[in-house]
Amino acid sequence: MSDERLHTPHTDRHRAMLARYGFGLFPLPVYREAVHGPWRVVRHGPAAVAGYVSGPALEPFRHVLYQGRRPWMSTSLMEQESHAFHVDRARGAVVVAGLGMAMYAAAVAHKPAVERVVVVERSPAVIALVAAAAGLAAWPRRDKVTVLEADARAPDLAERVTAALGGRRPTHLYADIWTRAGTDEAPGETAAMVRALRPETAGWWGQELAFAHWCRSARRSPDAAALHDYAAETAVPIPVTAGYAAFCRDVAAAQPPAAMPRGWRRFWRPRRRPPAA
Ligand SMILES: C[S@@+](CC[C@H](N)C(=O)[O-])C[C@H]1O[C@@H](n2cnc3c(N)ncnc32)[C@H](O)[C@@H]1O
Repeated sequence: MSDERLHTPHTDRHRAMLARYGFGLFPLPVYREAVHGPWRVVRHGPAAVAGYVSGPALEPFRHVLYQGRRPWMSTSLMEQESHAFHVDRARGAVVVAGLGMAMYAAAVAHKPAVERVVVVERSPAVIALVAAAAGLAAWPRRDKVTVLEADARAPDLAERVTAALGGRRPTHLYADIWTRAGTDEAPGETAAMVRALRPETAGWWGQELAFAHWCRSARRSPDAAALHDYAAETAVPIPVTAGYAAFCRDVAAAQPPAAMPRGWRRFWRPRRRPPAA
């Protein structure tokens, strides 16, 4: 991707994360509005937004992916911070479940350490929409990226992905096929993809929230030892670094359970994909 096709908002947050965790934010595609069937990418104006790990910020604009009236995701700070570690861990042959706005696919394709990217997306309308909205054809490293129209939950997932990778075992899997973080099904569905694809490392969107919830239930501190145990219990090969353990601790602290009303998970979830203002 040439520089004019990238922008890196929130450089202050990027630098702070890099210093604290050893990984930071990543460049985003330059989006334009587009429509395909019921799916749309819409630009919204200035708004105060909440981070995933850091506090509120003012964003001059953000783009949101809608299916009808339902927002699936946006390019806001929360999404950027919640993808950051998973972008950092990507290397070799990467499999991504869920194209969305191609934010993750663009960021990992841009990394020299990544050789191949196979994106599994079930909606042909999303594929067509995002090709236009994110300028997919113009990415200089488009040659690294294969977009498979397929269901990440389907029994033929391994066959389809293995063919796309020319028989190569994936190095890293990233799953993001949900509209809400911390959903109960995400760890199990990611584990099913791991069983099918056998990546060396893997993760899913909202993993840090699920880990924080597990720590609270198990009365564990969200540290590296607990992360190893959580990875073993979920059967997902989560890469554990000291910086990531610190990030998980800060994500857990950013959403303290004491401040959560009863039914806090319901309160928590909608904030992951904030509705467009
Ligand atoms: C939130 S978006 C992914 C965002 C992406 N991580 C990014 O950086 O732009 C979720 C995507 O998963 C897709 N999806 C949902 N269920 C799926 C499934 N079972 N198999 C493949 N894709 C699926 C949706 O159509 C949507 O495009």
